[in-house]
Amino acid sequence: MGLLHGILLLHLAVTAGVMINLRRAEAQTINEHCRGRCGNMDIPYPFGIGGGCYLNKKFNITCDESTNPPKAYLRKGNIQVTNISISDGELIVLQLIAKDCYDKNGLQYQDDTLTASLDLSSFTISSTKNKFTAIGCDTYAIIRGFRGEQRYRTGCLSLCDRAGDINYETCSGVGCCQVMSIPPRLNNFTVILRSYSNHTKVWDFNRCSFGVLAEESQFKFSNRSFNEFENKKYFPLVVDWSIGDSPCEKAREFKNSICHLETSECVDSNSSSGYLCRCLPGFTGNPYHPNGCQRYHY
Ligand SMILES: *[C@@H]1O[C@H](CO)[C@@H](O)[C@H](O)[C@H]1NC(C)=O
Ligand SMILES: *[C@@H]1O[C@H](CO)[C@@H](O)[C@H](O)[C@H]1NC(C)=O
Ligand SMILES: *[C@@H]1O[C@H](CO)[C@@H](O)[C@H](O)[C@H]1NC(C)=O
Ligand SMILES: *[C@@H]1O[C@H](CO)[C@@H](O)[C@H](O)[C@H]1NC(C)=O
Ligand SMILES: *[C@@H]1O[C@H](CO)[C@@H](O)[C@H](O)[C@H]1NC(C)=O
Ligand SMILES: *[C@@H]1O[C@H](CO)[C@@H](O)[C@H](O)[C@H]1NC(C)=O
Repeated sequence: MGLLHGILLLHLAVTAGVMINLRRAEAQTINEHCRGRCGNMDIPYPFGIGGGCYLNKKFNITCDESTNPPKAYLRKGNIQVTNISISDGELIVLQLIAKDCYDKNGLQYQDDTLTASLDLSSFTISSTKNKFTAIGCDTYAIIRGFRGEQRYRTGCLSLCDRAGDINYETCSGVGCCQVMSIPPRLNNFTVILRSYSNHTKVWDFNRCSFGVLAEESQFKFSNRSFNEFENKKYFPLVVDWSIGDSPCEKAREFKNSICHLETSECVDSNSSSGYLCRCLPGFTGNPYHPNGCQRYHY
């Protein structure tokens, strides 16, 4: 019985060893075939292009090379990604600006993107780097979304009677309004624009309302803002990503943390329920990559 038990244990140990080696080998061969770029944009692991090149389908990137420069899209392909950061678990996506424009008679333009939505499911919208902004003089803007199963709704109002009244110094509700901050852990949202009188009373100086949730540092209200929003389709939005949906301790418990413990550490994400990996002091590189972080040479 004792011997059998011993053999069984040995067998288990060998199987486990082989599996680990297989996993490593698999990951390393994958590496050589995976392309690390889309145009001139880096696509670092856990993100990747093509089967077997990304950690899981949350990190699936498609590179559309029919455009010049090529464009990278996340998952189902409707979210364009312009930058992926490994060091702080962020990525930049392009978010559609909601537009609501009218002709002199108060008729809505039919080709406007009246509502603009984004659904990231397991990733979250950075609450520290983005702000919800609307501009217009007959404008109320609503943003609604979900944090997991919890609903979130807020908005802001911007009204002005004359062009000269618009306050270009700050976004303060006269031509421009902003929601102080959005809550953390928002997974998706929709921006909706409304007006009180279809811009008929302000039409000679303001025919459109615009609304967008976007990177705060990319926007400053000025007398150029109306033109800028009219000519632009997208604004950058900062998204927080993380691995898995449980923190480091749980991931360790279930032995499925992908951080290489000899060269990196696991850190809980501040913006979602998952975790991130970080190279240990003295190491540098991509802690998610199968090769892990490398010793730093001075
Ligand atoms: C990755 O995304 C693309 C675009 O949606 C899709 O065609 C492809 O099947 C996805 N890959 C996997 C393995 O889900
Ligand atoms: C991506 O972001 C990093 C850090 O903010 C920056 O240094 C880099 O130039 C950006 N890359 C592109 C292609 O915009
Ligand atoms: C505003 O426009 C909408 C849609 O075009 C229309 O249904 C509504 O009657 C208009 N309201 C006013 C006050 O002009
Ligand atoms: C946002 O997420 C919630 C909860 O998962 C879902 O019910 C809803 O359909 C999503 N909305 C959008 C616009 O993607
Ligand atoms: C915007 O304001 C600046 C500085 O106050 C001024 O020089 C410029 O002419 C204005 N531009 C427009 C389009 O009104
Ligand atoms: C979370 O926030 C703390 C305090 O600001 C910071 O020290 C830590 O690095 C953050 N963690 C991540 C993963 O960004």
